[in-house]
Amino acid sequence: MSNPCDYLIYNVQIATMLTGSAPYGEIKNGCITIDGERIVYVGELSNFSGNAKSKFDGGGKWILPGFIDCHTHLVYGGDRANEFERRLNGESYQSIAAKGGGIKSTVNATRKATADELLASAILRATALVNEGVTTLEVKSGYGLDLDTEIKMLQVAKKLSDELPVKILATYLGAHALPAEFAQDADAYIDFVCDEVMPKISELKLADSVDVFCESIGFSPAQCERVFKAAQQFGLTIKAHVEQLSDLKGAKLACDYHALSVDHIEYLPASDVFNLKLSDTVAVLLPGAFYFLNETQKPPIEALRKQQVPMAIATDLNPGSSPIASILTCANMACVLFALTPEEALRGITVNAAKALGLKDRGEIKAGCRADLCLWDISHPAQLVYTVNQYKPVSKWFGGKLV
Ligand code: NIG
Ligand code: FE
Repeated sequence: MSNPCDYLIYNVQIATMLTGSAPYGEIKNGCITIDGERIVYVGELSNFSGNAKSKFDGGGKWILPGFIDCHTHLVYGGDRANEFERRLNGESYQSIAAKGGGIKSTVNATRKATADELLASAILRATALVNEGVTTLEVKSGYGLDLDTEIKMLQVAKKLSDELPVKILATYLGAHALPAEFAQDADAYIDFVCDEVMPKISELKLADSVDVFCESIGFSPAQCERVFKAAQQFGLTIKAHVEQLSDLKGAKLACDYHALSVDHIEYLPASDVFNLKLSDTVAVLLPGAFYFLNETQKPPIEALRKQQVPMAIATDLNPGSSPIASILTCANMACVLFALTPEEALRGITVNAAKALGLKDRGEIKAGCRADLCLWDISHPAQLVYTVNQYKPVSKWFGGKLV
């Protein structure tokens, strides 16, 4: 490598997260060159002989790809602390939802909130993630359910990238809960989602993907299938909340529609894992919701591992089932609760999380990728997931810019 470049980061241990070489794709005493937003060269410093316009000495610290939180609901009004108390007094998540609490109570609060109020509270939550090294973030709608509030939520989500150094992907989650105005007529609500909201959202380019909640307290597989068909028509990629509380075969259905990811999957039987393999669908694990709901049924990790289905980990940051604004805490939970290895957990919030969002240009440190990078004062990458709340990046580059 002898071309001149804009920017050189040197004297770093690089966790490229590429497979096939050392664990974590480690390069000792490495360097990274960057032109504009992109990485140009990654390798050992001794192999680099070019000239850089400016240089950054990493002081021997570790550099990792920026983290990717591929599943959040962080735009919402109000909170659900009262429901937390009700649950600790013996009510279940499902029974609170059946009595009009749960997602529906957040829908009421989100409809009442102004866009500015939603943005102000979302910035606080997103800032916590960004401070921990998140550089790409997915945000779902689904607490508005009517046209105006869904649009308001998605616009607020997109605005986060004007306020913070983070890339946002937005997902339309119309089939999240049945709003009061359609009570008793879920099929008519699905008509509304597919025929009125989705065309508008697609026209305004407010979403990259659609999502559904396939569950007894959400929507049936037949209803979700209608949403998937409409999504295909509008060129939106598919993600799905499936098998969180019961096995409705939602994962198989989503895989039939080539979903990018199926998320939660605690109740996915090991014998159904091959469906994910066939459709190249990522398994998104949400240990924060598992922890917060005190769930005992664990996702089929061993089968996912055996069949080499990529596993991502996300916060699921939301007011009801996972009020946890920390990607590294969720990575730690994936290790402690689901027995992922630290390397699997870090792959889960980098390369596999990128895949869960259909992004090919990030999550690894290699030529051509976005230069979303974080420098950490650690002696080994496993330290990031074995500890809780002990490390923050010491330097961050977002699209090649030191922020
Ligand atoms: O991912 N499962 C559905 N949706 C969210 C929970 C939303 C809520 O309880 O407000 C989840 O867990
Ligand atoms: Fe979720």
